[in-house]
Amino acid sequence: MSDALKFLVQARPEAMGHYFSFLKDCGTRLDPKTRNLISVITKVHAQTERGLRQYLVRALREGCSGEEILDALLMAFPALGLAKIVWAVDVILAMELPEFAFAAGAVQVQPHWHDLPDAAGIPEGATRRIECDGRAVFVHHGAQRWRVFDSRCPHQSTDIPQLALEGGTLTCPRHGWQFDAASGACTAHGDQPLREWDCRLHEGRLQVFW
Ligand code: FES
Repeated sequence: MSDALKFLVQARPEAMGHYFSFLKDCGTRLDPKTRNLISVITKVHAQTERGLRQYLVRALREGCSGEEILDALLMAFPALGLAKIVWAVDVILAMELPEFAFAAGAVQVQPHWHDLPDAAGIPEGATRRIECDGRAVFVHHGAQRWRVFDSRCPHQSTDIPQLALEGGTLTCPRHGWQFDAASGACTAHGDQPLREWDCRLHEGRLQVFW
């Protein structure tokens, strides 16, 4: 939420409460992907970069593909016009999201299991950032099981570095959202957990699925 919106919520809690209830109710009959695509389009229409980054990350996390987001923007051409779509694509490319690698000519492949050989050296209880096939992840070696989290912040997609890890807490350097490195839960300043990838031990090797 922007500082301006936070101010309005504090200054006019009742009126803003009605506004948020209205928005929430409007989307209840839509499936999550449609709702997210419409939200992305509204952020492009308003040309709010912070909002676009935030809703783009949310749309990807809730199942939209990069291709679908691009289709949605192009379908909204009559309302957005070329200038706003180009502006949005500039923002998207600057975010370097793997989901949009196809735009740079990368070959698209079906989701599959990827080996994480560097995970072998992570002692139990520790977390480490590992790069693998174009993505970075935080791998946590728990007593009961391994967990693998995307290194991209769920707020505005900042790539969180290894240096952001202190004790068991990850702090995003951009706006300070904090996460529990063992569970991925957001513990301060934000309201979304780290994106978690499915992982498994296969023939002694840790693998992650995307
Ligand atoms: S991008 Fe805003 S806290 Fe991470």
